[in-house]
Amino acid sequence: MIIATINGIPVHVAEGTTILEAARQVQVKIPTLCHHPDLPPTAACGICIVKVQGSNKMLRACCTPIEEGMNILTHDPEIVEVRRTVLELILSNHPNDCLKCGRNQSCELQNLAAAFGIREELFPKFISGIPKDDSTNAFVIDPDKCIHCGRCIEICQELQQVWALSFLGRGFSSRFAPAAGMRLVESPCVECGQCSSHCPTGAIFELDETVKVWQKLQDPDNYCVVQIAPSVRVAIGEAFGMPPGTNMTGKLYTVLRRLGFKAVFDTSFAADVTVME
Ligand code: SF4
Ligand code: SF4
Ligand code: FES
Repeated sequence: MIIATINGIPVHVAEGTTILEAARQVQVKIPTLCHHPDLPPTAACGICIVKVQGSNKMLRACCTPIEEGMNILTHDPEIVEVRRTVLELILSNHPNDCLKCGRNQSCELQNLAAAFGIREELFPKFISGIPKDDSTNAFVIDPDKCIHCGRCIEICQELQQVWALSFLGRGFSSRFAPAAGMRLVESPCVECGQCSSHCPTGAIFELDETVKVWQKLQDPDNYCVVQIAPSVRVAIGEAFGMPPGTNMTGKLYTVLRRLGFKAVFDTSFAADVTVME
């Protein structure tokens, strides 16, 4: 058991607990961007820096285990200024595209920019202009919106063991991409969606065909049918703020009918076959 303090609040945590995890236990919020609780820390962004009292060294809270007797300081004017500068530098390489972005209102970068009250661009803008990859029917990769957190690569390589994504190049020109720089459709990607659901920004986003669906529904000459995957029955509940695992099957069928679908198919048996396969 480790005993330390965070902003003067005593914490008792197991050995190996990071400063970030310890802070969360005592309701102290340290901002993060590259960190995701499903994944080991990549410590790529530097926004989670904190100080140990008596030292001017700044530590990354997401990857530093808290040690016995540490007095951690999570907020002071210097720490906040460094975090703000990190954010401003990231935004200087980021398009001002929020209104048209699929991640609008669920974007971790956008939320942080709002939390830090960023209203102006202090650094000259540099957008690499690498073309989007919309070669699959599943995702659009927009390299300009990548903040190099490494989450997608970690999840693709280590959790899914697919190795479709990797970082290419070095230093300033490094970028994430399908391995060997190929298009996503030519890569070993199995379109599982884990990269997209873990990306903090709109750099990997599901191909959005909502407008096409509305147009088809409004056309009286169409007989529109819909087929849902099993996970949607609970995922839709989470999207509307229900507790994880809430079964929304009945509501989902009703709403799809009300939207105008003439028939609703539910992928039950076929999904079992996929799992067996
Ligand atoms: S990724 Fe986030 S910050 Fe960037 S354009 Fe999209 S919503 Fe805005
Ligand atoms: S694409 Fe998204 S998850 Fe992958 S490194 Fe870029 S910002 Fe992170
Ligand atoms: S959240 Fe810790 S370095 Fe990014």
